Amino acid sequence: MAAQPAERIRVLIVDDIAETRENLRKLLSFDPNIEVVGAAASGQEGIALVREFRPHVVLMDINMPGMDGITATAIIQKDFPATQVVMLSVQGETDYLRRAMMAGARDFLTKPPSGDELMSTIRRVYEMGKERMVLQQVAGPAVEMAAPGKAKPLVGEVIAVFSPKGGVGCTTVAVNLAIALQKRLGSGRKVGLVDASVQFGDVGVMLNLQPTRSLADLAPHIDDMDADFLNSIMFAHGSGIKVLLAPPNPEAAEAVLTGGTSGDGAAGGASVMGALLELMRQEFDIIVVDMWSWIDDVALTIFDAAALIVLVVTPNIPAIKSARLFLEVADRLNYPRDKIALVINCVDRRMGIRPEQIEQALIPIAAQIPLDEQAVLLSVNYGVPFIVRDENRPVSQSIMYLADYVRRTLAEKDKEAEQSAAEKGRARVPG
Ligand SMILES: Nc1ncnc2c1ncn2[C@@H]1O[C@H](COP(=O)(O)OP(=O)(O)O)[C@@H](O)[C@H]1O
Ligand SMILES: [Mg+2]
Repeated sequence: MAAQPAERIRVLIVDDIAETRENLRKLLSFDPNIEVVGAAASGQEGIALVREFRPHVVLMDINMPGMDGITATAIIQKDFPATQVVMLSVQGETDYLRRAMMAGARDFLTKPPSGDELMSTIRRVYEMGKERMVLQQVAGPAVEMAAPGKAKPLVGEVIAVFSPKGGVGCTTVAVNLAIALQKRLGSGRKVGLVDASVQFGDVGVMLNLQPTRSLADLAPHIDDMDADFLNSIMFAHGSGIKVLLAPPNPEAAEAVLTGGTSGDGAAGGASVMGALLELMRQEFDIIVVDMWSWIDDVALTIFDAAALIVLVVTPNIPAIKSARLFLEVADRLNYPRDKIALVINCVDRRMGIRPEQIEQALIPIAAQIPLDEQAVLLSVNYGVPFIVRDENRPVSQSIMYLADYVRRTLAEKDKEAEQSAAEKGRARVPG
């Protein structure tokens, strides 16, 4: 629910094709809160206009003769940190997008964007920029702002994937997101995936892995668990991620939920999960946890440990209503709203509910994943996630986009933590 901006958002368009510039300008003319302050045909000209007009947001084409959009973005991020860049690219420029990300682009759109997409992205990025400037003023100008590519390595962050309603695509999102993060972070970093749908986990099915080793092996070893043991019960998947599967059947799950032999009920399960995540945080850069639609002590342990909760919702009233209730729970748990990333799954143009309506009922949307029955069915039947089968398919690209959102958010949180640590440090040093 972004508040109506008090000032008009100043936007600059940079694209070498006159027709594209004109189309974007026309689309933006429908939004009274947005003012197009100029249009440039190259990276160089774009930078000159940024210097002159200080726009809040630049819509930047990637491929341009002369200085390309990536170089221009890097310069703008360095010299004009108040200006946020949104990259526009055609399908399939994934590698460019990665570089644009490193250069500090805040968001991406695929050409041609719809008016809705364009305006909501501009608004979102504008809000991000405002927050960043406030932070910068608080921290003083010497502090460099978080640029995802430059951020220091992420270590031990838990990403919980949850939906208060079953069957909306939690597992689909969790599995593909873990692989997308591994792709983005590269083979030098470790991404783990935990199937915490303890009773009826199906990560194994999606990845074509038999649960010969699983969470069920954990409970008896809870007190002498170490990295080697963890390794011995996880699977290395071809995509590079390591996977900890759910127990093979509900009976075996029971031991996990009760914390083995300690017999003190759900709290036992919570302590098993707590100890597991603590150990995993030392061993992995990012741990994605696929959860079931049930809030118990185990779930609360995962939520507490999580840097980010990916809340998966499908565009229908019951799912939105459940998500609304979950947000109320999250409030009661005192989780800040930016701990939750709202993901709309199975997005379809014919769905009747518009993204803005969902945002109004809930919180701003972090990513939208299209309905793609064919891709999902093939993935499940072959046990090969769609992000592995075809990275260029829109459904895969939307997951890559979510992965970038996750990285950005983690990098920003990291920076904030660093800043507040530095401020505390300063406060302690007398005069
Ligand atoms: N984007 C999508 N497009 C089409 N079908 C999907 C999509 N995401 C999930 N599904 C299908 O929805 C069903 C539930 O997905 P799953 O990931 O198991 O959900 P959950 O973990 O929330 O129960 C599965 O049959 C899955 O193939
Ligand atoms: Mg599931």
